[in-house]
Amino acid sequence: MSSATAFAPATVANVGSAFDVLGFALEHPGDCVHASVSASSGVRILGIEGDGGRLPRDPLKNTAGVSVRALLDHLVAGDASLASLGLDLTIRKGLPIGSGLGSSSASAVAAVVAANAALGEPLARSELLPFAMEGERVACGTAHADNVAPALLGGFVLIRSYEPLDVVMLPAPPQALVVVATPHIELNTHDARRVLRRSVPLSAAVAQWGNVAALVAGIFQGDVALMGRALEDKIIEPERSQLIPGFSAVKSAALDAGALGCSISGSGPSIFALCRSRQSAERVGESMQLAFSQVPLSATVHVSPVNPLGATIVARG
Ligand code: HSE
Repeated sequence: MSSATAFAPATVANVGSAFDVLGFALEHPGDCVHASVSASSGVRILGIEGDGGRLPRDPLKNTAGVSVRALLDHLVAGDASLASLGLDLTIRKGLPIGSGLGSSSASAVAAVVAANAALGEPLARSELLPFAMEGERVACGTAHADNVAPALLGGFVLIRSYEPLDVVMLPAPPQALVVVATPHIELNTHDARRVLRRSVPLSAAVAQWGNVAALVAGIFQGDVALMGRALEDKIIEPERSQLIPGFSAVKSAALDAGALGCSISGSGPSIFALCRSRQSAERVGESMQLAFSQVPLSATVHVSPVNPLGATIVARG
């Protein structure tokens, strides 16, 4: 019987204008999952560290457990001799829950990558995506892929279509540095999706199309200024920003300190900004933290380039 441990990074989903269709990976922080093949069938969660006892240990309710269960069911359907095998999971959370950094996705991705490695890599990395998306469905009610796909594959990932699933990997421009400020409050993605209106004016849709296309062009050209301008979000940010205390002040602080663009990370409450240098990113991070402190809210700041790799195997047993 073998085992493996995988790390999956935090992700910034939506990237301003591209709701549900674009996301990118950071280098850190992230979650680790250890998966161990067992002779006793089924998926078990042996332990979770770093969640304060809040995440479900029931594998049918836990994002990592559900993803690995879906992977195992798929493999057993193709090879009945695997039906007697099981997988034991141990999860180490490095990501805060409900932070807008793709916490549930990181656990799901680390779990399927570790499980696949422990089983001897029956599937290619990209084939793991639908199983990790099942974890997202249990975590927040919809199987969107804009956190899961970049956590798994790295770089920027575009989801052109959900049915059928059509995922396009984009480069990770080394010129871009990302600042993410995470206030110490929680926002539930399910709730943050419920506040969104179901239809949008044509003028807002036109502006959004322009920005999403410009964002993709900026990514390919390594043009961080264009990427920053293209974060402008006329549809989602005006509604969700009301759920984030101090959003306007933090965004203004980031832009005044030199950020090239700024928006909500995923469904919030984290706020991210794009910068061209580490020095600028550090200045922007301090300004965002100061603006949050005036709310008053304490906030953690991370500065990272876009992570081109996504999840990695950190140990094999
Ligand atoms: N696209 C998703 C949303 C990401 O904004 O609801 C959060 O998980």
